[in-house]
Amino acid sequence: MQFDYSLEHLNTFGIAARARRFVEIHSVDQLAATLADPALASLPRLFLGGGSNLLFTRNFDGLVLRMANLGKHIVGKQHGATLVRAAAGENWHAFVQWTLQQGLGGMENLSLIPGTVGASPIQNIGAYGAEIKDSFHSLTAFDPASGTTRTMTAADCRFGYRDSIFKHPDGAGLVIVDVTFALPDAWQPNTRYAELANALLDAGLAQPTPQQVSDTVVAIRRRKLPDPAVIGNAGSFFKNPVVSAAQCAVLLEQFPTLVHHAQPDGTEKLAAGWLIDQCGWKGRNLGAAGVYPKQALVLVNNGGATGAEVVALAAAIRADVMQRYGVSLEAEPVFI
Ligand code: EPU
Repeated sequence: MQFDYSLEHLNTFGIAARARRFVEIHSVDQLAATLADPALASLPRLFLGGGSNLLFTRNFDGLVLRMANLGKHIVGKQHGATLVRAAAGENWHAFVQWTLQQGLGGMENLSLIPGTVGASPIQNIGAYGAEIKDSFHSLTAFDPASGTTRTMTAADCRFGYRDSIFKHPDGAGLVIVDVTFALPDAWQPNTRYAELANALLDAGLAQPTPQQVSDTVVAIRRRKLPDPAVIGNAGSFFKNPVVSAAQCAVLLEQFPTLVHHAQPDGTEKLAAGWLIDQCGWKGRNLGAAGVYPKQALVLVNNGGATGAEVVALAAAIRADVMQRYGVSLEAEPVFI
């Protein structure tokens, strides 16, 4: 247990924030014992994975628990798929690479996403036409209220776009300790996302292997997204907003180049990066916080930014997008 602990190296935004108490969790038994400790019972709690989807706006006056339990293995076969399980503290990208080394395709489109396995279901991470819900089998969650673990299926997790039960009051108290994925024996590349399909064709990969798809995704991400080890950021700062077909039609009359994608339920998902870009924010800074010059959806810490500076920048962007397009942007990272 650490006291007055710096969290600067534990959040990919690189914001200087401190925790009153800090502990690294290596097992479910240790987790249970820590949460049952009467001396810690009155402290607010914050669970950390890779710290890649949160923004510290203040010091955390409570107990930070960093999930660092490790382990990954093949569980077995089921219904034409191979089940693989990883502990919450495993690095996401390293886990994806490990599955590929086992000859198992299915998660290659999600290569290089920062963060941990345990955090991946919370916002149902997604990229290049895939989301973890597509490969998800089940997870083990620890319930501090009962002191027991339980298995949760995809239906239990209520996955949505960058959303799950773990972001809502009835699931927010649960702690994910491991996640199991079902990877298909009959693998097919997922080339629904035009940018990925084009990059594969450009590379002459008409029938790519899972590893080649992964390498291509990694190359695209390196080209467009800042490496958090170099420039602090939390990936997309806003979700892509979903509007009604009617609102989209009205917007298209005024802005014919608006980027939009029809959703299965008839709504339209707009590209927040395009909206922000059109408002002239790309590459602009407010204090030490800025908008990444190659992708307007990513806010960055240019060095020494405070959470308040990032919040002020985000508020200014939201206000501009609202004024120009009448569309409300919702932040993707969790504000602490
Ligand atoms: N666009 C612009 N200007 C910009 C950025 C984007 O005009 O500055 C336009 C692009 O030209 C494109 C459209 O907006 O037509 C969409 O852009 P892009 O393909 O880069 O994807 P995105 O919608 O901005 C989403 C995810 C990313 C994910 C990519 C690829 C969200 C909030 N973001 O971004 O996820 O990597 O698609 O699948 O859904 C993350 O969640 O942290 C993240 C990086």
